[in-house]
Formats: sequence, structure tokens, C-alpha cells
Amino acid sequence: MKRIALLGATGSIGRQAIEVVERTPELELCALASGSSDLSRLAAEHGVEHVQTGGDLVELLEQAEPDVVLNAVVGFAGVGATLWALERGVTLALANKESLVAAGDLALAARERGGGMLLPVDSEHSALFQCLEGRSGDTVDSLVLTASGGPFRGRARAELEGVTVEETLAHPTWSMGPKITVDSATLANKGLELIEAHVLFGVPYDAIEVVVHPSSIVHGLVRFRDGALLAHLGHPDMTVPISYALTYPQRAATEVPQLDLASGLTLEFEAPDLDTFPLLALARRAGEAAGTAPAAYNAANEVAVTAFLEGRLPFLAIADVVADVLGAASGAPARDLDDLVEADAEARRLAEGGVPVG
Ligand SMILES: NC(=O)c1ccc[n+]([C@@H]2O[C@H](COP(=O)([O-])OP(=O)(O)OC[C@H]3O[C@@H](n4cnc5c(N)ncnc54)[C@H](OP(=O)(O)O)[C@@H]3O)[C@@H](O)[C@H]2O)c1
Repeated sequence: MKRIALLGATGSIGRQAIEVVERTPELELCALASGSSDLSRLAAEHGVEHVQTGGDLVELLEQAEPDVVLNAVVGFAGVGATLWALERGVTLALANKESLVAAGDLALAARERGGGMLLPVDSEHSALFQCLEGRSGDTVDSLVLTASGGPFRGRARAELEGVTVEETLAHPTWSMGPKITVDSATLANKGLELIEAHVLFGVPYDAIEVVVHPSSIVHGLVRFRDGALLAHLGHPDMTVPISYALTYPQRAATEVPQLDLASGLTLEFEAPDLDTFPLLALARRAGEAAGTAPAAYNAANEVAVTAFLEGRLPFLAIADVVADVLGAASGAPARDLDDLVEADAEARRLAEGGVPVG
């Protein structure tokens, strides 16, 4: 029996993870956390003793002593839990990409000391992990991340002036929480994933390509030095990567249907439009700058997305806020979590300065 601490239990990933646990006999929940939602009914239904709404996730994890931490919190709030699991060698099933983007160097150092598994839950990284598993690094030529392109794929920049929150939240292929759905529309999500892939797999930025693939059937591809290209395909359903990470290495059965290839499945790919969606190129620049530049990118984006969702900032200004913060933030490397928290706070202050109060 694997005991799972589910952080972000009330969110999109959290709810799907609960369904996976309910259907998988070898999994049980030992801890639940949310930001502000009440968890008492969920805890009672699943007989979970360790429950926390808001507050310190590390304290909850210390008490619950899980076998696996599923970090499905949204945003920088997930950093402490990511570092806790890696430092202690507790298996980390990671959906919270923001923590790996912001704290990449600290996370790698913590994993080195702790020696535990880091299993990506992001579908693209789960795909890459599976294509890479068992291969030595020197056989790998490059990674390919696929992007759906979001609801505004194919539009010119001028056509994005004045797009509403409602239009932005209407994602064509994935049903997800509001923050990541906005990030998918701006391509900041693919920017975060680019940095996440660099941290997870140690591949240089110039060997990670992003391609737009509107149907979201191919989740990730790896090119090898002999000319082979391995791809991971499946319906766009987060059940698969969640179940893969929670039951690793068993790959438990799920109810997700198999792809029907003979019915005429076609796969289309195109280059991303970096002029209309500048947040992807900005992420590449922040990743290459290293230090706390990725943390500043993430913090500025979180502030700008919140302002957009609250109607205080136009869609196109999200990228402007992030670009301005990256130009102004120090970017100096973080020696420890305190340094990182300070860099995050500095970027948030800078970003708030560029956002109308309301
Ligand atoms: N949704 C997807 O399909 C998908 C796919 C790949 C990766 N991800 C990543 O997975 C993460 C979660 O995404 P989501 O779409 O599930 O988001 P979501 O639906 O907005 O859910 C966020 C969850 O985090 C909780 N939370 C927020 N602040 C917290 C805090 N300070 N302490 C503890 N819990 C807190 C929320 O609790 P409340 O209910 O109390 O607010 C909620 O349970 C994000 O990093 C996202 O990028 C998501």
C-alpha cells in the first residue's frame, strides 16, 4: 500500500488524482491540503487524518510521513513541499511546475542529497520521462515539447486586444484550473514547461524544441543521435500521467480508452508564433540567464495572470509585465530558500508596480 499526501486536493489535478486513488487498490490517501477550500467532507470520505487548509505544507508532511507527495498546488506556494520531498528522498509526483521553475537549482541539489524519485505529472514531461527511461544521456539528441496552441492559435497580435477572461478560459483540448488555462493561452505554460524540462532532464535549452500540435495527442518526443524519434501518444487526459506517477513502476490499468488509429488519426505540427505569444521566447531567455531569472519570470507571470483574471490587466499586457520584471530583477542565484523567497518577493513587487490596482 502506498500512502499519498495530496496537496491541492480540491483542484483540477487533485480531483482527478482522487479518482485514480479510488480505482487503484494499492493506493491510499494519508494527507490532504488546499489553499482555502474546506476539506472536512473529503477527509471523512477517505478516512484521512492529516488535513490542512492554508498554512505550512511542510508541517503537514512531517506529521503524515507519506510514501509519495503529489504536489498539485498551483504556483510558488508549492515550493516548500517540493523541496521537502526531494530533501528527504520521499517520492515526489510533481504537477506543480512553478516550484521546479522557480527553485530548479535548489531542487536538484535537494534531490542529490535526498536520493528520491522525481516523477513528473505534467503530461509532456511524463511523456519525455517515459521516452527517455533506460537510455543513457549521450544517446539523446534533443527533446520536443508539444503545445496545443491554446484558444488563440492562428490569431495575429492585433486580434488579441480586448480578449475576455471567458474566451481565454475556453481551452480547446484540456480542462484545467484557471491559472494554467490562461498560461496555455499566452504560451507561458509552454515557457514554464521548457524550463521544467531543462531542470528535469538536464538537456541544454538549444536542444529543447517547442512545436504546436493542436490535437494534443502526441505529448512529447525525443530525438536520438542515430536519427530515431520516439513519441508518446494518448488521449489528452491527465488520468494517465497522474496514474503513471502514483503507481510507478507498475503502470496500473486506467479507464482511459485506447487511441483508435485506423479511424483516420492524423497528426499536425507547426512552429509556434513567437511574435504573437512572446512569453515563450521570454521563458527561454530567463532559463538561459539562469540564477533567479526563472523565479522572476514565474512570479511576474503569477501576478499578471491574477490581475488579468480579476479584470485589472488586458491579455496582451501579461507579457509586457513579465518582460519589464525580467529587465529589472537582479537575477542573482539563490543560495537557499530564503534567498529564493526574497527573489520571488522582489519580482512580485516589481510586477505589482506595473499592474493597475483595480
Ligand atoms: N490541470 C491540469 O490539467 C494540469 C496539467 C499539468 C500541470 N498542472 C499543474 O498542476 C498544478 C495545479 O493545477 P490545477 O489546474 O489543478 O489548479 P487548480 O484547479 O487551480 O487547483 C489548485 C489547487 O491548489 C490549492 N492551493 C492553492 N494555494 C495553496 C496553498 N497555499 N496551499 C495549499 N494548497 C493550495 C487549491 O486549493 P483551493 O481549492 O483551496 O484554492 C487547489 O486545490 C499547477 O501547477 C499546474 O500548472 C495542471
